[in-house]
Amino acid sequence: MAIETIKWVSGCARIIDQTKLPNKFEYIYCRDVATMWQAIKRLSVRGAPAIGVAAAFGVLLGIQKFKGQDKPKFLKLFNKTCDYLATSRPTAVNLFNMLNEMRAVVAENPKADVPALKKLLHKRAMEIFKEDQKVCRTMGDHGAKLIKNGMKALTVCNAGALATVDYGTALGVFYSAKRQGKKFSVYSCETRPLLQGARLTCWELLRQKINTTLICDNMAASLMAKGQVDIIFTGADRIASNGDTANKIGTYMLAVLARHHSIPFYIVAPRSTFDLKIKSGKQIPIEERKSDEVTHFAGVRIAAKGVKVYNPAFDVTPAKLITGIVTEHGIIHPPYVKNIYENLPTR
Ligand code: MRU
Repeated sequence: MAIETIKWVSGCARIIDQTKLPNKFEYIYCRDVATMWQAIKRLSVRGAPAIGVAAAFGVLLGIQKFKGQDKPKFLKLFNKTCDYLATSRPTAVNLFNMLNEMRAVVAENPKADVPALKKLLHKRAMEIFKEDQKVCRTMGDHGAKLIKNGMKALTVCNAGALATVDYGTALGVFYSAKRQGKKFSVYSCETRPLLQGARLTCWELLRQKINTTLICDNMAASLMAKGQVDIIFTGADRIASNGDTANKIGTYMLAVLARHHSIPFYIVAPRSTFDLKIKSGKQIPIEERKSDEVTHFAGVRIAAKGVKVYNPAFDVTPAKLITGIVTEHGIIHPPYVKNIYENLPTR
């Protein structure tokens, strides 16, 4: 059965509550923008492309109850809704890029009245949803060319169907390779502190009958030293114009290890994850989350009381450690400063 991470269902946004997986499969029905904001913040819906779609749907939720024809009032609500959604999480640029797509609908239709704008915004949000489905499959097919029979791949966090509308970025590569009949296996890093690897990646790879082995994050180096990893694929939350890439905390560590062990390290991400306004990863805002994600495990305190905690949700992998970036426009190789601009459309 396909995984429908996020879907617009008769006037509300239905999302799979990822905080409950893999033990419970439950939907959240977001009928107002505050519920969507909370769902993004709490990671019920997560993963950069899925957050982008959630933001576009969030805009629809924010404006749908507006009655009447007063355009200045409508625009005030629209802008307030976009600004509010933009405060939910700071790192995944898909959130801001998709809000900008929605803002562009308003900017590009200055003569449209309120009902027309509502219709146009609805249309754009549905296009954003469908574009994600399409680009993920295209990226998967490009990336699958890198997978050879017998390979042992490694991934971190969850860059799968659950991080997108229904297919995935890094895991989409595995789904395409499997469809092409290739035989390979995948190591999934558990991804402390919130265990997106153990909970989500393993759940969805096993559903797709992909040969999957779970490891703790600190086992990656010894696995590589034993020659057990042939290739690494991860997703991304924001890629700067020089190729520096923010992704789940622990990704940078894997890239350093990959270079030491001469293992190819690929990022898989759509155009909507690129931030071409920034020059390098130094300009990427890194989300810091609450300390209880580290001090507690499944609600039980595991850390000594009173200890200080550092809990950044993402790190930045320098471009020089990245073998290639798989996008819907093909695989981009170094030098990234030149090749990103040459291979990607500006918007
Ligand atoms: O904190 P999360 O779970 O939203 O972090 C997600 C990741 O880091 C993913 O690897 C990234 O968004 C790519 S998803 C296709």
